[in-house]
Amino acid sequence: MKGGEDRLVVVTGAASGIGQATAAELRRQGARIISVDLRDADIIADLSTADGRKEALAEIGERAPEGIDAVLTCAGVGGGRGADVSSINFFGTIDVVEGVRPLLAKGRSPRAVIIASSVSVLPPDPVLLRLYLAGNEAGARAHTDDASVAYVTGKRALCHWVRRTSVRRDWAGEGILLNGVAPGVIRTPLTEPAISTEEGLAEVAQIAPIAVAAYPRAPDIAPLIAFLASPQNGNMVGQIVFTDGGSDVLLRGEAVP
Ligand code: NAI
Repeated sequence: MKGGEDRLVVVTGAASGIGQATAAELRRQGARIISVDLRDADIIADLSTADGRKEALAEIGERAPEGIDAVLTCAGVGGGRGADVSSINFFGTIDVVEGVRPLLAKGRSPRAVIIASSVSVLPPDPVLLRLYLAGNEAGARAHTDDASVAYVTGKRALCHWVRRTSVRRDWAGEGILLNGVAPGVIRTPLTEPAISTEEGLAEVAQIAPIAVAAYPRAPDIAPLIAFLASPQNGNMVGQIVFTDGGSDVLLRGEAVP
C-alpha cells in the first residue's frame, strides 16, 4: 500500500521549500492536500497572528468536516523581527497542531509532524524557552527582537512541546501520533540567499558542517516527512528525527539526545 493513498493532509507553508516538496510527495502517493500559506494555497492565512490562525482553523474545519488524517507544519521564517519569528515559528505551529486535534481524532491513522531544526541542540535563551512553553506569546514577543535567539529557542521549544504533548491521553492515547523532524541546512528559498555564494557556503559550513557531499534540496527529505505522516509510521511517538547530512554528529560527536 502506498503511504499517502486517500489521505487528507493539512500542510502549512506549502507554497515553498520543504512544505511544497512534501505536499508534492504526498500527492504523488495519492493524498489530498489542504494547503495553508500566505500565498498560492487553498487557505490564505497569516499564521503569525492569532486571528490568522483562527481563520485558518475555521476554514480547515469547513473543508474537512469529517476529519483529517494528518497535519504537517512547515510554515516558518529564518529571519526578520525576532518577535515575528516567535509568533510564526513556535505559536503558528503549536496553535495549528492543537487546533486540528479534534479533526485528527476523527481521521484514519492520524499523524502530526512538526518541522523543528538541527539548531534545536544549540543553547536556548532559558527565559524565552519558559515563555514559549508557558504559551505566553505576548511575553515571548516582548522578550527579544533578536531573530537568531528566537529561531534557535523556538525550535528547541518545539522539540520539548512535541515530547510533552505527544504522550498525552488525547494524543497517543487516541491513536494520534505526534513527531517532529529536525532538518539541517536544506536548499530552499529560506537558505538559498545565504548559500548561493562560495563565501556564504563556507560560512554556513562552519556552523552546519556536513559529512555528505552537498546540502540537499527539499525533495530529498520529503519522503521521510511523508513517512512520518503515514500509517506506515505505526509506533513513533514524541520523536525528533534528524535529517542533517551528519551535522549533529560532527558537532556533538557521540552524544545522544
Ligand atoms: P521556505 O521559506 O521555502 O518556506 C516557508 C513557507 O512558510 C513559505 O511558503 C512562506 O510563505 C510560509 N510562511 C512564512 N510565514 C508565514 C506566515 N506568517 N503564515 C503562513 N505561512 C507563512 O522555508 P523552508 O526552508 O521550506 O522552511 C520550512 C520550515 O523548515 C521552517 O519552519 C524552517 O525553520 C524549517 N527548517 C528549514 C531548514 C532549511 O535549511 N531550509 C532547516 C531546518 C528547519
